[in-house]
Amino acid sequence: MPPRPRLPAGHQPLDQILFAQGFGARRECEGLILNDLVSVQGQLVNDPDAAFPEDRLDMVVDGQPWVTHVKALVMLNKPAGYECSLKPGAWPGVHNLLALPLRRRGLQPVGRLDQDTTGLLLMTDDGALLHKLTSPKHNVPKVYEVTVKHPMTEQQVQSLMSGVVLDDDPTPVLAEKAEMVSELHLRLSLTQGKYHQVKRMVAAVGNRVEALHRSQIGQLTIPDDLAPGQWRWIEDPAVVLP
Ligand code: URA
Repeated sequence: MPPRPRLPAGHQPLDQILFAQGFGARRECEGLILNDLVSVQGQLVNDPDAAFPEDRLDMVVDGQPWVTHVKALVMLNKPAGYECSLKPGAWPGVHNLLALPLRRRGLQPVGRLDQDTTGLLLMTDDGALLHKLTSPKHNVPKVYEVTVKHPMTEQQVQSLMSGVVLDDDPTPVLAEKAEMVSELHLRLSLTQGKYHQVKRMVAAVGNRVEALHRSQIGQLTIPDDLAPGQWRWIEDPAVVLP
């Protein structure tokens, strides 16, 4: 095969673009193109070598509309009954809720939500961004809607903000904000992300979490039209950085 010609910066042959997006092995991607199953910006393209910009390219692949993202960052409205572990055990993994190309790309959850916690979860295949978003240096605030078993007392709310000691570390952990929305609904904003942190903090002040939902990360909230179990691209990581 003759060598492929040099391409302009940020351009790739279409079969390579499909492969990098997660549409299958190189042969499968080539097959999709040769079988007239790929259109780009509304035009059918049947040449696997045709070069296009690799990022934010508007395609339809085998009936599926797809805008390419060289690095994927998505939000998921996590339902209960899914695990964030990459090797889930008793429950299905959250990656099962993503489109197949994203599953093939091996997106990882940014931090973890418990199986029974619902709400905003980020997933990415961008290693540098994953590191930034999970590093304690970056302190991205996260907001949790907590349903508690017993009405919270003013003293309990104050303790959450002044700091409570958890069983694995003598250094107290504290909420950036803690407000009572109603008698059994506490809203907590945390900048750390310790294991079962909300459940353990609430237990440490003598109450108990009955239900937990993450409603916000940085500036990002769950869009009204993103139902539980659905995912969406995040176009600009700045919304989830401090
Ligand atoms: N804190 C918890 O206890 N559980 C979660 O899922 C998230 C934060």
